[in-house]
Amino acid sequence: MNSTPTAPAAPLTPGLSAAKDTPSRTPLRTSTHTGTPANIDAASAGPTAPPLFEAIDVSRRFGGVIALDAVSITIRSGEIYGLIGPNGAGKTTLFDVLTGVQRADHGSCRLAGRELPRGRPDHVLAAGIARTFQNIRLFGELDARENVLIGLHRQTHASMLAQLLRTRAVTRRESAARARAQTLLDYVGLAHLADRVANSLSYGDRRRLEIARALASGPCLLALDEPAAGMNATETRALAELIRRIRDDGTTVLLIEHDMRLVMSLCDRIAVLDSGRKIAEGNPDEVRTNEAVIEAYLGRRHAH
Ligand SMILES: Nc1ncnc2c1ncn2[C@@H]1O[C@H](COP(=O)(O)OP(=O)(O)OP(=O)(O)O)[C@@H](O)[C@H]1O
Ligand SMILES: [Mg+2]
Repeated sequence: MNSTPTAPAAPLTPGLSAAKDTPSRTPLRTSTHTGTPANIDAASAGPTAPPLFEAIDVSRRFGGVIALDAVSITIRSGEIYGLIGPNGAGKTTLFDVLTGVQRADHGSCRLAGRELPRGRPDHVLAAGIARTFQNIRLFGELDARENVLIGLHRQTHASMLAQLLRTRAVTRRESAARARAQTLLDYVGLAHLADRVANSLSYGDRRRLEIARALASGPCLLALDEPAAGMNATETRALAELIRRIRDDGTTVLLIEHDMRLVMSLCDRIAVLDSGRKIAEGNPDEVRTNEAVIEAYLGRRHAH
Protein backbone atom coordinates (compact mmCIF):
# COMPACT_ATOMS: atom_id res chain seq x y z
CA MET A 1 0.00 0.00 0.00
CA ASN A 2 0.96 3.59 -0.37
CA SER A 3 2.88 4.80 2.65
CA THR A 4 2.86 8.47 1.73
CA PRO A 5 1.44 10.58 4.57
CA THR A 6 -0.53 12.92 2.32
CA ALA A 7 -3.82 11.12 1.77
CA PRO A 8 -5.41 11.57 -1.66
CA ALA A 9 -8.33 13.98 -1.70
CA ALA A 10 -10.66 11.52 -3.43
CA PRO A 11 -11.66 8.28 -1.69
CA LEU A 12 -9.66 5.37 -3.00
CA THR A 13 -10.53 1.78 -3.61
CA PRO A 14 -8.59 -0.16 -0.95
CA GLY A 15 -6.04 -2.54 -2.34
CA LEU A 16 -5.89 -0.96 -5.76
CA SER A 17 -4.15 2.30 -5.06
CA ALA A 18 -0.60 1.01 -4.95
CA ALA A 19 -0.71 -1.68 -7.61
CA LYS A 20 1.35 -0.63 -10.60
CA ASP A 21 -0.81 -1.99 -13.38
CA THR A 22 -4.13 -1.74 -11.62
CA PRO A 23 -4.49 1.95 -10.88
CA SER A 24 -7.34 3.39 -8.85
CA ARG A 25 -10.82 2.80 -10.24
CA THR A 26 -12.01 5.93 -8.47
CA PRO A 27 -13.40 8.29 -11.12
CA LEU A 28 -11.20 11.35 -11.33
CA ARG A 29 -12.69 14.45 -12.80
CA THR A 30 -9.85 14.78 -15.28
CA SER A 31 -11.13 17.96 -16.85
CA THR A 32 -11.66 21.05 -14.71
CA HIS A 33 -12.77 23.13 -17.68
CA THR A 34 -16.39 24.12 -17.63
CA GLY A 35 -18.41 23.18 -20.66
CA THR A 36 -16.82 19.75 -20.79
CA PRO A 37 -18.87 16.97 -19.24
CA ALA A 38 -17.13 15.38 -16.26
CA ASN A 39 -18.35 11.91 -17.12
CA ILE A 40 -19.17 11.30 -20.74
CA ASP A 41 -21.46 8.44 -21.55
CA ALA A 42 -20.86 6.48 -24.72
CA ALA A 43 -23.78 8.09 -26.53
CA SER A 44 -22.43 11.65 -26.15
CA ALA A 45 -19.16 10.64 -27.84
CA GLY A 46 -20.94 9.79 -31.07
CA PRO A 47 -21.11 11.71 -34.35
CA THR A 48 -23.59 14.18 -32.87
CA ALA A 49 -21.27 15.36 -30.09
CA PRO A 50 -20.28 19.03 -30.42
CA PRO A 51 -16.87 19.94 -31.88
CA LEU A 52 -14.37 20.60 -29.14
CA PHE A 53 -11.26 21.32 -31.19
CA GLU A 54 -10.83 22.46 -34.77
CA ALA A 55 -7.67 22.92 -36.81
CA ILE A 56 -8.55 24.85 -39.94
CA ASP A 57 -6.26 24.84 -42.99
CA VAL A 58 -3.10 24.68 -40.92
CA SER A 59 0.17 24.94 -42.87
CA ARG A 60 3.73 24.95 -41.59
CA ARG A 61 6.91 24.97 -43.60
CA PHE A 62 10.52 24.45 -42.48
CA GLY A 63 12.69 25.87 -45.26
CA GLY A 64 11.96 23.64 -48.23
CA VAL A 65 10.02 21.06 -46.18
CA ILE A 66 6.26 21.40 -46.08
CA ALA A 67 5.54 19.79 -42.72
CA LEU A 68 1.82 20.63 -42.81
CA ASP A 69 -0.13 21.45 -45.95
CA ALA A 70 -3.59 22.93 -45.24
CA VAL A 71 -4.53 20.33 -42.65
CA SER A 72 -8.00 20.52 -41.10
CA ILE A 73 -9.34 18.27 -38.37
CA THR A 74 -12.34 18.44 -36.06
CA ILE A 75 -12.35 16.60 -32.75
CA ARG A 76 -15.64 16.09 -30.96
CA SER A 77 -16.11 16.26 -27.25
CA GLY A 78 -15.64 12.82 -25.68
CA GLU A 79 -13.73 11.26 -28.56
CA ILE A 80 -10.46 9.43 -28.64
CA TYR A 81 -9.15 10.82 -31.92
CA GLY A 82 -6.13 9.20 -33.54
CA LEU A 83 -3.50 10.91 -35.65
CA ILE A 84 -1.37 8.48 -37.62
CA GLY A 85 0.99 8.50 -40.58
CA PRO A 86 4.49 7.41 -41.57
CA ASN A 87 7.60 8.99 -40.04
CA GLY A 88 7.94 12.64 -40.98
CA ALA A 89 4.24 12.92 -41.92
CA GLY A 90 3.76 16.06 -39.79
CA LYS A 91 2.01 14.61 -36.72
CA THR A 92 4.26 16.19 -34.07
CA THR A 93 4.32 19.46 -35.99
CA LEU A 94 0.52 19.57 -35.79
CA PHE A 95 0.78 18.98 -32.01
CA ASP A 96 3.36 21.77 -31.79
CA VAL A 97 1.08 24.15 -33.66
CA LEU A 98 -2.08 23.32 -31.75
CA THR A 99 -0.32 23.60 -28.37
CA GLY A 100 1.26 26.92 -29.31
CA VAL A 101 4.85 25.61 -29.31
CA GLN A 102 5.07 26.61 -32.98
CA ARG A 103 3.22 29.16 -35.04
CA ALA A 104 1.37 28.06 -38.12
CA ASP A 105 2.32 29.91 -41.31
CA HIS A 106 -1.33 29.76 -42.25
CA GLY A 107 -4.58 28.61 -40.68
CA SER A 108 -5.94 28.61 -37.17
CA CYS A 109 -6.95 26.41 -34.26
CA ARG A 110 -10.09 26.72 -32.15
CA LEU A 111 -11.11 25.24 -28.84
CA ALA A 112 -14.84 25.23 -28.09
CA GLY A 113 -15.29 27.77 -30.88
CA ARG A 114 -12.68 30.23 -29.60
CA GLU A 115 -9.51 30.89 -31.55
CA LEU A 116 -6.39 29.73 -29.71
CA PRO A 117 -3.48 32.13 -29.28
CA ARG A 118 -0.59 31.40 -31.62
CA GLY A 119 2.87 30.67 -30.27
CA ARG A 120 1.71 30.90 -26.62
CA PRO A 121 1.92 27.43 -25.01
CA ASP A 122 1.12 28.84 -21.57
CA HIS A 123 -2.11 30.40 -22.85
CA VAL A 124 -3.09 27.25 -24.73
CA LEU A 125 -2.53 25.21 -21.55
CA ALA A 126 -4.68 27.65 -19.58
CA ALA A 127 -7.35 27.40 -22.30
CA GLY A 128 -7.54 23.64 -21.69
CA ILE A 129 -5.11 21.72 -23.93
CA ALA A 130 -2.32 19.72 -22.30
CA ARG A 131 0.15 17.41 -23.98
CA THR A 132 2.89 14.87 -23.55
CA PHE A 133 6.00 14.82 -25.72
CA GLN A 134 7.40 12.27 -28.15
CA ASN A 135 10.75 12.69 -26.40
CA ILE A 136 9.80 12.56 -22.73
CA ARG A 137 10.28 15.91 -20.99
CA LEU A 138 10.46 15.44 -17.24
CA PHE A 139 12.62 16.98 -14.57
CA GLY A 140 14.83 13.93 -14.15
CA GLU A 141 16.37 14.90 -10.81
CA LEU A 142 12.99 15.68 -9.22
CA ASP A 143 10.78 12.96 -7.82
CA ALA A 144 7.53 11.85 -9.42
CA ARG A 145 5.36 13.91 -7.05
CA GLU A 146 7.40 17.05 -7.69
CA ASN A 147 7.03 16.58 -11.43
CA VAL A 148 3.26 16.48 -11.04
CA LEU A 149 3.35 19.47 -8.68
CA ILE A 150 5.00 21.44 -11.48
CA GLY A 151 1.97 20.65 -13.62
CA LEU A 152 -0.22 21.94 -10.79
CA HIS A 153 1.73 25.15 -10.30
CA ARG A 154 -1.06 27.30 -11.70
CA GLN A 155 -3.24 26.28 -8.77
CA THR A 156 -0.50 26.77 -6.18
CA HIS A 157 0.63 30.10 -7.57
CA ALA A 158 0.91 32.69 -4.79
CA SER A 159 2.55 36.07 -4.53
CA MET A 160 6.16 36.20 -3.34
CA LEU A 161 5.08 38.09 -0.21
CA ALA A 162 2.41 35.51 0.62
CA GLN A 163 4.97 32.74 0.13
CA LEU A 164 7.53 34.49 2.34
CA LEU A 165 4.96 35.02 5.08
CA ARG A 166 3.73 31.45 4.57
CA THR A 167 0.19 32.55 5.05
CA ARG A 168 -2.37 29.95 6.04
CA ALA A 169 -3.87 30.19 2.55
CA VAL A 170 -0.50 29.32 0.98
CA THR A 171 0.03 26.37 3.31
CA ARG A 172 -3.50 25.15 2.67
CA ARG A 173 -3.03 25.42 -1.10
CA GLU A 174 0.30 23.60 -0.93
CA SER A 175 -1.12 20.67 0.97
CA ALA A 176 -4.13 20.52 -1.35
CA ALA A 177 -1.71 20.45 -4.31
CA ARG A 178 0.30 17.62 -2.74
CA ALA A 179 -2.88 15.65 -2.16
CA ARG A 180 -4.00 16.27 -5.74
CA ALA A 181 -0.55 15.22 -7.05
CA GLN A 182 -0.82 11.99 -5.07
CA THR A 183 -4.31 11.36 -6.46
CA LEU A 184 -3.05 11.89 -10.01
CA LEU A 185 -0.12 9.52 -9.44
CA ASP A 186 -2.55 6.96 -8.08
CA TYR A 187 -4.79 7.49 -11.11
CA VAL A 188 -1.98 6.59 -13.54
CA GLY A 189 -0.76 3.70 -11.34
CA LEU A 190 2.34 5.36 -9.90
CA ALA A 191 1.29 6.08 -6.30
CA HIS A 192 3.93 3.71 -4.96
CA LEU A 193 6.67 5.55 -6.88
CA ALA A 194 5.81 9.08 -5.75
CA ASP A 195 9.16 9.58 -3.98
CA ARG A 196 11.35 8.14 -6.74
CA VAL A 197 13.32 10.55 -8.92
CA ALA A 198 12.01 10.57 -12.48
CA ASN A 199 15.33 9.43 -13.94
CA SER A 200 15.17 6.18 -11.97
CA LEU A 201 11.77 5.18 -13.35
CA SER A 202 11.28 2.73 -16.20
CA TYR A 203 10.53 4.16 -19.62
CA GLY A 204 6.87 3.12 -19.40
CA ASP A 205 6.50 4.67 -15.94
CA ARG A 206 8.04 7.93 -17.15
CA ARG A 207 5.46 8.03 -19.92
CA ARG A 208 2.70 7.54 -17.33
CA LEU A 209 4.24 10.27 -15.19
CA GLU A 210 4.10 12.66 -18.13
CA ILE A 211 0.40 11.86 -18.47
CA ALA A 212 -0.17 12.58 -14.76
CA ARG A 213 1.64 15.90 -15.11
CA ALA A 214 -0.41 16.81 -18.17
CA LEU A 215 -3.65 15.92 -16.36
CA ALA A 216 -2.64 18.18 -13.48
CA SER A 217 -3.82 21.23 -15.41
CA GLY A 218 -7.31 19.71 -15.72
CA PRO A 219 -7.37 19.85 -19.54
CA CYS A 220 -10.47 19.34 -21.65
CA LEU A 221 -8.21 18.02 -24.45
CA LEU A 222 -5.21 15.80 -23.75
CA ALA A 223 -2.77 15.37 -26.64
CA LEU A 224 -0.52 12.31 -26.35
CA ASP A 225 2.48 12.01 -28.68
CA GLU A 226 3.41 8.32 -28.99
CA PRO A 227 2.59 7.37 -25.39
CA ALA A 228 3.20 3.64 -26.03
CA ALA A 229 6.68 4.13 -27.51
CA GLY A 230 9.14 1.93 -25.62
CA MET A 231 6.42 0.06 -23.72
CA ASN A 232 6.11 -3.72 -23.64
CA ALA A 233 2.82 -5.48 -24.45
CA THR A 234 1.63 -5.54 -20.82
CA GLU A 235 2.41 -1.87 -20.31
CA THR A 236 0.66 -1.01 -23.58
CA ARG A 237 -2.50 -2.85 -22.50
CA ALA A 238 -2.51 -0.96 -19.18
CA LEU A 239 -1.95 2.29 -21.09
CA ALA A 240 -4.96 1.58 -23.33
CA GLU A 241 -7.08 1.08 -20.23
CA LEU A 242 -5.78 4.34 -18.76
CA ILE A 243 -6.49 6.34 -21.93
CA ARG A 244 -10.04 4.97 -22.07
CA ARG A 245 -10.57 5.90 -18.44
CA ILE A 246 -9.24 9.42 -19.00
CA ARG A 247 -11.83 9.87 -21.74
CA ASP A 248 -14.61 8.31 -19.67
CA ASP A 249 -13.74 10.64 -16.78
CA GLY A 250 -14.20 13.77 -18.89
CA THR A 251 -11.15 14.54 -21.03
CA THR A 252 -11.17 14.27 -24.81
CA VAL A 253 -8.03 12.59 -26.15
CA LEU A 254 -5.93 13.23 -29.25
CA LEU A 255 -3.52 10.37 -29.80
CA ILE A 256 -0.46 10.06 -32.03
CA GLU A 257 0.68 6.46 -32.13
CA HIS A 258 2.55 4.04 -34.36
CA ASP A 259 1.15 0.98 -32.57
CA MET A 260 -1.67 0.21 -35.00
CA ARG A 261 -3.32 -2.37 -32.79
CA LEU A 262 -3.59 0.22 -30.02
CA VAL A 263 -4.86 2.93 -32.38
CA MET A 264 -7.44 0.72 -34.05
CA SER A 265 -8.81 -0.64 -30.78
CA LEU A 266 -8.91 2.71 -28.95
CA CYS A 267 -9.85 5.44 -31.39
CA ASP A 268 -13.35 6.55 -32.35
CA ARG A 269 -11.98 8.34 -35.42
CA ILE A 270 -8.59 8.61 -37.04
CA ALA A 271 -6.92 11.12 -39.36
CA VAL A 272 -4.02 9.99 -41.51
CA LEU A 273 -1.23 12.37 -42.50
CA ASP A 274 1.31 11.72 -45.22
CA SER A 275 3.96 14.25 -46.26
CA GLY A 276 2.08 17.03 -44.48
CA ARG A 277 -1.31 16.32 -46.06
CA LYS A 278 -4.37 14.71 -44.56
CA ILE A 279 -4.99 11.76 -46.86
CA ALA A 280 -7.83 10.07 -44.97
CA GLU A 281 -10.16 10.39 -42.01
CA GLY A 282 -12.75 8.04 -40.60
CA ASN A 283 -13.46 5.29 -38.13
CA PRO A 284 -10.88 2.50 -37.73
CA ASP A 285 -12.53 0.24 -40.33
CA GLU A 286 -12.71 3.02 -42.91
CA VAL A 287 -9.08 3.96 -42.37
CA ARG A 288 -7.82 0.39 -42.32
CA THR A 289 -9.30 -0.31 -45.75
CA ASN A 290 -8.54 3.07 -47.35
CA GLU A 291 -6.42 2.68 -50.51
CA ALA A 292 -4.42 5.87 -49.97
CA VAL A 293 -3.57 4.80 -46.42
CA ILE A 294 -2.47 1.34 -47.48
CA GLU A 295 -0.33 2.93 -50.21
CA ALA A 296 1.23 5.44 -47.77
CA TYR A 297 2.27 2.68 -45.38
CA LEU A 298 3.08 -0.13 -47.80
CA GLY A 299 4.68 2.18 -50.36
CA ARG A 300 7.02 3.46 -47.68
CA ARG A 301 7.79 -0.03 -46.45
CA HIS A 302 8.55 -1.30 -49.94
CA ALA A 303 10.89 1.61 -50.55
CA HIS A 304 13.24 0.36 -47.76
N1 LIG B 1 12.16 22.17 -36.21
C1 LIG B 1 12.22 21.65 -37.43
N2 LIG B 1 13.11 22.13 -38.33
C2 LIG B 1 13.19 21.60 -39.58
N3 LIG B 1 12.40 20.60 -40.02
C3 LIG B 1 11.52 20.08 -39.15
C4 LIG B 1 11.37 20.58 -37.82
N4 LIG B 1 10.40 19.88 -37.20
C5 LIG B 1 9.95 18.99 -38.10
N5 LIG B 1 10.62 19.11 -39.26
C6 LIG B 1 10.37 18.32 -40.48
O1 LIG B 1 8.98 18.36 -40.73
C7 LIG B 1 8.52 17.09 -41.17
C8 LIG B 1 7.45 16.59 -40.21
O2 LIG B 1 8.05 16.25 -39.00
P1 LIG B 1 7.23 15.72 -37.75
O3 LIG B 1 8.18 15.61 -36.60
O4 LIG B 1 6.04 16.57 -37.54
O5 LIG B 1 6.77 14.28 -38.23
P2 LIG B 1 6.05 13.10 -37.45
O6 LIG B 1 4.87 12.71 -38.24
O7 LIG B 1 5.83 13.48 -36.04
O8 LIG B 1 7.12 11.94 -37.56
P3 LIG B 1 7.52 10.78 -36.52
O9 LIG B 1 6.49 9.70 -36.66
O10 LIG B 1 8.86 10.30 -37.01
O11 LIG B 1 7.59 11.36 -35.16
C9 LIG B 1 9.74 16.18 -41.25
O12 LIG B 1 10.23 16.22 -42.57
C10 LIG B 1 10.72 16.84 -40.29
O13 LIG B 1 12.05 16.57 -40.67
MG1 LIG C 1 6.51 12.79 -34.23
